[in-house]
Amino acid sequence: MAVLDEALGGGTIRPSILEAIRARHEGRRLSRLIAVALLLFAQGLVHLGQAPGHFDEYAPFGVLFLLAGTAQIGCAWATLARPQGRLFLGAAVGTVGLIATWFWSRLSGLPVGPHAGYPEVPGMLDMVTTLSEIVTVVLLLFLVRAPRKPKRRGPVRVTLAALPSLIFVIPLLVFGLQAPFHPMPDAFDPAGVQAGQAATSITTLQAPAGSQPVRAFTLTAAPVNVAGHQGWAFNGSVPGPEIRVTEGDRVKVTLLNHLPESTSIHWHGLRLPNPSDGVAGVTQDAVRPGQSYVYEFIAQDPGTYWYHTHQATLSQLGRGLYGAITILPKAGIKEQHDYSVVIHTAVGSSDARINGSANARLEARPGETVRLRLVNAAVPDPFGGTPLNPVLLGVPYRVVALDGHDVNRPQEIGPQKIRLGMGQRADLVFTMPPSGQVVLTGLKGAAQSPFDFSSTGPASLTLGEGPAPEKPARLQNFDITTYGEPAAEALTAATHYDVTRTLQLAGVPIFRNGTFDFSDTFDGKASPFVPPVTVHEGDLVKLRLVNRSQKFHPIHIHGHVFTVLSRNGVPLSGSPIHQDAVLLPAGETWEVAFKADNPGIWMLHCHVLGHAWAGMVMTVNYDGYTTPFRMGTSSGNEPE
Ligand code: C2O
Ligand code: CU
Repeated sequence: MAVLDEALGGGTIRPSILEAIRARHEGRRLSRLIAVALLLFAQGLVHLGQAPGHFDEYAPFGVLFLLAGTAQIGCAWATLARPQGRLFLGAAVGTVGLIATWFWSRLSGLPVGPHAGYPEVPGMLDMVTTLSEIVTVVLLLFLVRAPRKPKRRGPVRVTLAALPSLIFVIPLLVFGLQAPFHPMPDAFDPAGVQAGQAATSITTLQAPAGSQPVRAFTLTAAPVNVAGHQGWAFNGSVPGPEIRVTEGDRVKVTLLNHLPESTSIHWHGLRLPNPSDGVAGVTQDAVRPGQSYVYEFIAQDPGTYWYHTHQATLSQLGRGLYGAITILPKAGIKEQHDYSVVIHTAVGSSDARINGSANARLEARPGETVRLRLVNAAVPDPFGGTPLNPVLLGVPYRVVALDGHDVNRPQEIGPQKIRLGMGQRADLVFTMPPSGQVVLTGLKGAAQSPFDFSSTGPASLTLGEGPAPEKPARLQNFDITTYGEPAAEALTAATHYDVTRTLQLAGVPIFRNGTFDFSDTFDGKASPFVPPVTVHEGDLVKLRLVNRSQKFHPIHIHGHVFTVLSRNGVPLSGSPIHQDAVLLPAGETWEVAFKADNPGIWMLHCHVLGHAWAGMVMTVNYDGYTTPFRMGTSSGNEPE
């Protein structure tokens, strides 16, 4: 002890570190100095921990995090070693700058960086950090002026008064220090094949040569201005142009990228060769600005489908990169009018639009037959995922197809809510009534209320001329599990399945992509760490989807079609149902099946874009296939 005393003060007794600081603090409250120092130190560590990940993403952001972190730790030290008014004022101004940058990035999006102009999603760690910064600014402002009549407090009281800062300091240290060890992988192999194992690259799985009629299209992705808002679009319109082809056509679509960032096109619901599936980091590299990619497939299953970007999907699809693709049957369709009806979100707001308009109009005269191909491409609340509930008023109608696949003997129904999860489609067929007008409306809302637009501004579609149809006081929900009539079906509950997998859908708190937050997960794991469903070509596969969360999850498979087997253990009593996305309400269990007849690496994910972004993404991997593509920061591929 004597040795230490000597080293510290040349023989004079120094009672404590507190006294040493007190000697310089000009009467400022010691507890505040300590609290500020702890807070700044913890915030500094959080920022330093995030710096490497941000360097990968966009170097200037990395520099910003490095500077912020270093400055905060420097200020923490100076707070105790050199407390003075100028320091506290400077630290307060700097911290206000960080807080403002955070709000800017989360509310409207920073003007620079890989997702310029698009708001980032707030996470738990950055929210707690910002909250602690606000508290720090208040404390710093108290410290700017030294009080005239300093109060003296004993070490115990000083320590107790500084303790509340630990409410922030402890979580920041615990989560902030772990976060950098869970960054987004920089080059994740979605095939996960062990070295040395014989394997075929998915790039060999091209559409076979043949003499089908070729239909060629070009889709140019570029920024667009829609009613004063900056959006991104294919061929200058939101939604992009409808692609209409006939069953059996050889479809070739050239994607030209004139956007400032990489992109891709996924053909939602189509069974096509894996390299044309459009998933960045799984089936191709995202197409860089100025470059192009050709998608080629044979239009197999007639029906209503859509296409959309599958790179940074949450941000890119929300800006407008989607459109409808319709495959007509060889025999043609019987209806006199055949309209594709894309329900989507306005560019720059969460209001609903139909084919680009809030009050869409289409032509049809009394007695004419009409087919409406509804596509839910809307992202009003990317994290809630409430389905749309369009209602057709003024005419009895039949729901003739779901997700493009025919319903067997669909009966006529009155106004009902056709619940559509994100990505799902429904074809409605009717004959225009003598009164002359039919309206499609009511796009989002709770199960009971008849017309609830909640956060989504209303949009409607009016067909024909005449008096507006009446709105019933109460509406039933359309039920796909009892609609239509049974028919022979290859896959049933009684079929023997080669692969059976249960997937629990749940929100759990986990570390992911450098932050800690509640994530939407499969079996408690988030992409890319959810073990794939591994299949062999020819396998019959059954999935038990168990929704343990309080949200809707439309679970979508690429390159295959689900046969719905049962809902909450009850087999379907109506028509067989084939969908590429099944909508799971909170608490329900659905069993679906598919035949593994299309080799490759295929996405299986929730189509609520915020849930997919948060991690509810996995793949179906055919044994023996590899992919040369990687997802993650350094690969430039972010499939969600
Ligand atoms: Cu419509 Cu993987 O998506
Ligand atoms: Cu979901």
